[in-house]
Amino acid sequence: MPDDMRIAVGSDHAAEAAKDEMVEYLKSRGYDVVDVTVVVDGRADYPIAGHKVARMVHSGEFPRGLLMCGTGLGMSYVANRYKGVRGALCLDRDYARLAREHNDSNILIMPGRATIYAPHREILETWLDTPFSGVDRHARRVRQIEDPEAE
Ligand code: RB5
Repeated sequence: MPDDMRIAVGSDHAAEAAKDEMVEYLKSRGYDVVDVTVVVDGRADYPIAGHKVARMVHSGEFPRGLLMCGTGLGMSYVANRYKGVRGALCLDRDYARLAREHNDSNILIMPGRATIYAPHREILETWLDTPFSGVDRHARRVRQIEDPEAE
């Protein structure tokens, strides 16, 4: 299993069903999925899974992550606290494509509950299959996320 086929996944209760569908989709594509979600009595505080997945990506243990909560906003706040983590809340294929091409996003975040513009699966597919463009200006801007003085 190549390293880039490993993905850490987590959700809260509000996105659990949608997340389960994405786990099945990822497995059908041959991804090695580790799902950290723990829902107890129908509840799961989103920061718990958010921190776990963000740490797995921050540490380099996993190259990619997928986080889902009701709106995706709570997961965004948590994931982007970690150095090297670029969590992208994506609502359609264009967001997913640009999050990869321009920002080299390493965690995809989607809303389980909110009205979205594209099916989750389409967003995930685009995000997985779009490479980082690697062009100089985008690479510099990604470095500047961590360090505004970066060249
Ligand atoms: C849970 O009710 C909800 O707050 C959560 O899923 C998420 O939308 C938070 O940002």
